[in-house]
Amino acid sequence: MTEQALPSGMVRATGTSGPHEGYMPGFGNDFETEALPGALPQGQNSPQKCEYGLYAEQLSGTAFTAPRGQNERTWCYRIRPSVKHVGRFTKIDVPYWKSAPNVDPDVISLGQYRWNPVPHSDEPLTWVTGMRTMTTAGDVNTQVGMASHIYLVTQSMEDEYFFSADSELLVVPQEGRLRFCTELGIIDLEPKEIAILPRGLVYRVEVLEGPARGFVCENYGQKFDLPGRGPIGANCLANPRDFKCPVAAFEDRDAKSRVVIKWCGQFHETFIDHSPLDVVGWHGNYCAYKYDLRTYSPVGAILFDHPDPSIFTVLTAPSGQEGTANIDFVLFRERWMVAEHTFRPPWYHKNIMSELMGNIYGIYDAKPQGFMPGGTSLHNMMLPHGPDRNAFEHASNEPMEPAFQGNTMQFMFETRFPQHLTEFAAKEAPLQDDYIDCWDSIEKKFDGKPGTK
Ligand SMILES: [Fe+2]
Repeated sequence: MTEQALPSGMVRATGTSGPHEGYMPGFGNDFETEALPGALPQGQNSPQKCEYGLYAEQLSGTAFTAPRGQNERTWCYRIRPSVKHVGRFTKIDVPYWKSAPNVDPDVISLGQYRWNPVPHSDEPLTWVTGMRTMTTAGDVNTQVGMASHIYLVTQSMEDEYFFSADSELLVVPQEGRLRFCTELGIIDLEPKEIAILPRGLVYRVEVLEGPARGFVCENYGQKFDLPGRGPIGANCLANPRDFKCPVAAFEDRDAKSRVVIKWCGQFHETFIDHSPLDVVGWHGNYCAYKYDLRTYSPVGAILFDHPDPSIFTVLTAPSGQEGTANIDFVLFRERWMVAEHTFRPPWYHKNIMSELMGNIYGIYDAKPQGFMPGGTSLHNMMLPHGPDRNAFEHASNEPMEPAFQGNTMQFMFETRFPQHLTEFAAKEAPLQDDYIDCWDSIEKKFDGKPGTK
């Protein structure tokens, strides 16, 4: 990635170098970072007076009493406490960003759907106004379920900040580069990387290279975590070391600023006279991350048959039911196919989970045509799907030699809840009306006589 100058007036912690410039490696660590020496108190969290006249404040991402392994909180040492970063709220309209429950009576969500990439328009769009909700699931008010969005961003937020009290955002860029200037540091993000922005974190989004397009999974429920690896052991899949958390960075800037807040599916604005990105130092384990999807080490079949796609889980957000995720984030990336006497692509199936897929780049093996980079597909709860006829015929007859599947990177947001299409997804986004027909030409081969056909 090209090094980009910091925003003017931004002071960032030093001390990291090389591949980790500006970031601290590790997932779920208890980090500490300060942009000015001595900003962090030692041996306690809340001294009678903090260095530099800073205010101490705790940001709690879990209930105080959450079990130790899940408990997440961060102590911030900031120029002003967060109560100074909000005033009275006014409701505003952000018409394309929907929250569950959002069941449109005029839309049929039952079906297999696929969309071409949502095109950019001439309209200047920010991170907030450029969010286009495709599906919602569950209920934002009870903190279960999710929403999937496509973002189309052409304009940086200026003297404008945002936070979602509703959700953690998983960001999957497909085009362009964005910078997330957050209370806890700066994340620069480009395609083949993802970012996780925790609930309640204040940030603004700048366009480094536009236009920018990508996907967002808005997680209303428990935070994303690394999946258990079971017998795989201590390595492979997503390794904790490859997650990067930004070092502290702050700005001491007086300017009339607008803060937009998403709360229980509604949007509100409030005005303040300074930047809220004023955390000089922080320590804790509730923080933002980025992760390079190219560091994902896939594990798969090395003799025959095909494990369930859950083998490709990068992150999982649990629900109250063990093993049944609120959301799994799954990655289909370059890999070797070596299984013998096996139908190698994903098999035909029906699933209680509902599966929204996005194509970051390349070709997806079960659907070589039609699923374009930037495109989206949805296979909803208990809706059958699988390879189209060409993919089936090819995979049924290909020589069983080791084959490298290159030029491929797709992901899936899979949830235990049915996903409801928004009006935008059903009526404005470039829906492929003929997607369902991709299975039309599958033949009946059965003739009652033994032998493979
Ligand atoms: Fe599937």
